[in-house]
Amino acid sequence: MTALSLPKQPAGIGIVGCGNISSIYFRNLHQRFRNTTVLACADLDLERAKARAEEFGVQHACTPEELMKNPDISIVVNLTIPNAHYSVCMQALQAGKNAYVEKPLSVDLEQGEELQNAAAARGLRVGGAPDTFLGGGIQTCRKLLDEGWIGEPVAAAAFMMGHGHESWHPDPEFYYKKGGGPMFDMGPYYLTALVNLLGPIKRVTGSTRVTFPERTITSKPKYGTVISVDTPTHIAGVIDFECGAIGTLVTSFDVWSHSMPCIEIYGTEGSMRVPDPNGFGGQVMIRRAGASDWSVIPLTHGFAENERGVGVADMAAGLVSGRLHRASGDLTLHVLEAMHGFHIAAREEKHYAMKNQCRRPAPLPMGLPSNAVDA
Ligand SMILES: NC(=O)c1ccc[n+]([C@@H]2O[C@H](COP(=O)([O-])OP(=O)(O)OC[C@H]3O[C@@H](n4cnc5c(N)ncnc54)[C@H](O)[C@@H]3O)[C@@H](O)[C@H]2O)c1
Repeated sequence: MTALSLPKQPAGIGIVGCGNISSIYFRNLHQRFRNTTVLACADLDLERAKARAEEFGVQHACTPEELMKNPDISIVVNLTIPNAHYSVCMQALQAGKNAYVEKPLSVDLEQGEELQNAAAARGLRVGGAPDTFLGGGIQTCRKLLDEGWIGEPVAAAAFMMGHGHESWHPDPEFYYKKGGGPMFDMGPYYLTALVNLLGPIKRVTGSTRVTFPERTITSKPKYGTVISVDTPTHIAGVIDFECGAIGTLVTSFDVWSHSMPCIEIYGTEGSMRVPDPNGFGGQVMIRRAGASDWSVIPLTHGFAENERGVGVADMAAGLVSGRLHRASGDLTLHVLEAMHGFHIAAREEKHYAMKNQCRRPAPLPMGLPSNAVDA
């Protein structure tokens, strides 16, 4: 039987950043997982924090500074915008709190490294989204791979292509500025899933382009505003994994339509289709050597709905038992470095060798209840 994490007292969580994505974190961390409870929430806009506190029955809504002083909070969950990820995480670490941050870890690679060093120096933990790789879809793929259903991994192909966000997002400019682009926007989902499936990356290379130097917003309220594009919008990357498998990852805001899969893994004895890594469930398919068609494989693991925050519950469990949490700082820094690596390789016209290593996260056990992770 799987050992569950049932501490006497749930970990005290403080949420900083009460915007769009925060609702699901409040729901899962305050009302669902047994080992977490949200003690306070904060935002630069105090009214937003008050509204979320009222909506989810959280006791304190306050400023980020007040939240950091709360001695009962052990994990600060940082759901601010990417440009504030570094400063809010650093504030948390300096206040003696563990930090868990939405993706990406930070905008600059150096900031991500600083956060890791600051945490290590204080004996604290850093963790980060995406935690979709803990979902039933990708955990099922992981189990099939580890059990050898497609043999030794040879290659992977991953595609995230579309035409950008200016036709629907109310304020899409940041997608076309430094820290934006399709790689920094969506790459974390794809790369985290790939590292969970195939292990750490040895080196990357890539080519990039800007196809449309200007974009015109067609959504409201900024209809007609022209954005000058300052970051690559089509990035074709090649990934050498330490295990020897070779990955191809294309992320694009320059493609109107396509018929490529999200992720496929090719092995010496068959192929596997991995569900969309921006979700927790989805359909897993396998076609082994000699089979006449693909077979759908039923999911072996739970957490297949909107499970955002399961990575935080996993960190809380790790703090109690001493085990490494799966959505770890090493992993999120490794992914951040790879995203920068594609761009650096394209500029310098050579491979980029990874400096920051990470461990492949441990798989989740099967049979967990919907409100707890393993100890
Ligand atoms: N919205 C989504 O669907 C989605 C999905 C996955 C991941 N994310 C990630 O989640 C994060 C938040 O996204 P969002 O869509 O909720 O953004 P949002 O703009 O709706 O909310 C961000 C909130 O953070 C607050 N904030 C900004 N800087 C702050 C600071 N220094 N201190 C305290 N509060 C601060 C803002 O006032 C705002 O309320 C981003 O990193 C994004 O990449 C969002």
